[in-house]
Amino acid sequence: MQIKNAVIPAAGFGTRMLPATKSQPKEMLPIVDKPTIQYVIEEAVASGIEDIILIVGRDKRAIEDHFDYSFELEYTLEKTGKLDLLKEVRQISDMVRIHYVRQKEPLGLGHAIYCAKMHVGNAPFAVLLPDDLIISDKPAIRQMIDVYDESKGAVLAVKRVAEQQVSSYGILDAEEIDKQLFMVRDMVEKPSPAEAPSNLAVMGRYILSPEIFSILENLPPGKNNEIQLTDAIRVLNKTRQVYGYAYEGQRYDVGNKEGFLRATVELALKRPELQESFRRYIKDLAVKL
Ligand code: G1P
Repeated sequence: MQIKNAVIPAAGFGTRMLPATKSQPKEMLPIVDKPTIQYVIEEAVASGIEDIILIVGRDKRAIEDHFDYSFELEYTLEKTGKLDLLKEVRQISDMVRIHYVRQKEPLGLGHAIYCAKMHVGNAPFAVLLPDDLIISDKPAIRQMIDVYDESKGAVLAVKRVAEQQVSSYGILDAEEIDKQLFMVRDMVEKPSPAEAPSNLAVMGRYILSPEIFSILENLPPGKNNEIQLTDAIRVLNKTRQVYGYAYEGQRYDVGNKEGFLRATVELALKRPELQESFRRYIKDLAVKL
């Protein structure tokens, strides 16, 4: 079955980016000139996704407005002859169908995904966490859909992390099939370095099968008293093989200040219109440091 739906949970408070997120969604903070959520939605669209189920909470209206038509802005751009900008702005709202579902209480990532149940139905689907920006030639979630098409198992994006970072991630206990593919035996959410079964960490991209919804429905709260997606995937692994896939690409955690700054600098250096002068600026700066 083809993967046409992607669930993007965007209901978190963004406390790691306060005060910038006091009155605006963290997903709208721009990297260079685009909100982080737009990068993630573009990745999904470039991977063949046709419907996006965006799980939102209170105060997330700016996201809905960003992907909607903006009549006054478009009218003004047209009248003033700024046709390139008009085209760009239009493309954002025409890119894909987005369905908004409210997560009424912050009960955890697993609960946020569960909120998409009615929209996803009985088909496998993708999950993209918008704090994780992955820049690659072939979109990360497309790489994973290809693995799913071959294996028919669930697929989790993984990367090795330093030992002191394991407590920030879901960590796999897995058997290596080849350099990029791992067969999951078990997994644990945010273990201490002493408890961690490996340093293979789940980065925010998943291909899941719809059985996950009935598992989530009956799942007790786990780490930090939240309904954890990791715990549900452990259960899923008993009936459907779960794979870890070491995707190709550069990942930034844009939900924290340093990751956000790194993404800003590195993506600015890739922009043709900024490349030359910004590179010069960074070089001059490095000499002064
Ligand atoms: C979530 C997941 C975790 C995963 C991480 C990837 O944690 O619960 O398993 O490794 O995303 O970014 P969060 O960062 O939302 O606390």
